[in-house]
Amino acid sequence: MESTSLSQPASLIDPFGRSVNYLRLSVTDRCNLRCTYCMAEEMTFLPKQQILSLEELRDAATAFVELGIRKIRLTGGEPLIRRDILKLVSSLAALPGLDELTMTTNGVYLPSMAQPLKDAGMSRLNISIDSLKIERFKQLTRVGDLSQVLDGIHAANVVGFNKIKLNAVILAGFNDDEVIDLASFAVDNGLDISFIEEMPLGEISSHKRAATQITSAQIRDQLESKFTLLDSTETTGGPSRYRQVANSDSKIGFISPMSNNFCESCNRVRMTAEGRLLLCLGNEHSLDLREILRSHPGDSERLKSKIIQAIADKPERHYFDPDQVDIVRFMNMTGG
Ligand code: 5AD
Ligand code: SF4
Repeated sequence: MESTSLSQPASLIDPFGRSVNYLRLSVTDRCNLRCTYCMAEEMTFLPKQQILSLEELRDAATAFVELGIRKIRLTGGEPLIRRDILKLVSSLAALPGLDELTMTTNGVYLPSMAQPLKDAGMSRLNISIDSLKIERFKQLTRVGDLSQVLDGIHAANVVGFNKIKLNAVILAGFNDDEVIDLASFAVDNGLDISFIEEMPLGEISSHKRAATQITSAQIRDQLESKFTLLDSTETTGGPSRYRQVANSDSKIGFISPMSNNFCESCNRVRMTAEGRLLLCLGNEHSLDLREILRSHPGDSERLKSKIIQAIADKPERHYFDPDQVDIVRFMNMTGG
């Protein structure tokens, strides 16, 4: 049974005719790594009381699904460091109408969490890995141990998730010499991989973002010296395009928020761990859903009408300039 009342549409359509059916839900701004392109060395995280409780997260997700959201991706920071994350996964997986529940993780906790996540109803995983070199991985993540992530990828593979996807952010002069190695690692293990252009989200000190920009086209040229990339019809909406690697089960994705603008097919919104609804990654504008969740707990009609109002404000497109940090929000606030 659809629980949406007759007065409300069962789908979220924005003023540009885009149907919003995908929610990225950040469950924490904290992380056990400190990737240089994502965080400053010293970060201040949100106080606990500002973060949505599991019940508030569940209530918000329920309202979105009742409004036509069909896919939810849990993100962070690192979602697996949130206590009781498995409870949230189970309750979201059981929502009628939700087709897919996925997660973006850095993989560090997957050796012990892969099986419980699968059992709780998680459909798919994206695992971030930007280098296969031990020292470089440590430098990039400031604290990370590559072997834990490799064990995590292995554990997730053994558990048998539908198609695991790796995510690699490529920085010119830092890890652009590993593009082929990363793709080969994915192909050899029957995984998909996406290469991501770095976005200017948050003020960082480790490097000048303008100096490390590399485009998806440059990455693809490198890959084509080793692989045959066939056109693929697959699209997830938003700024990514996929190619099938010939003679393999793997697809390679190119996420090009800087060099290409695919905003016209954007189908997603994001909610931060403190309950701010972001209508576009490249815009600071947000709507405070926590205020409603806390002042009117259990009032799903009120929440849903606020969400419908918000969708009317979804911007047409983003504008990023690597020389300028317009967006003060770091990626860990928003999730990938
Ligand atoms: N630009 C692009 N991708 C980023 N991520 C984190 N910060 C940035 C950034 N500034 C990626 C992570 C991970 C996902 C959560 O988002 O590498 O794959
Ligand atoms: Fe953590 Fe992901 Fe940010 Fe790295 S990119 S610090 S793993 S949230």
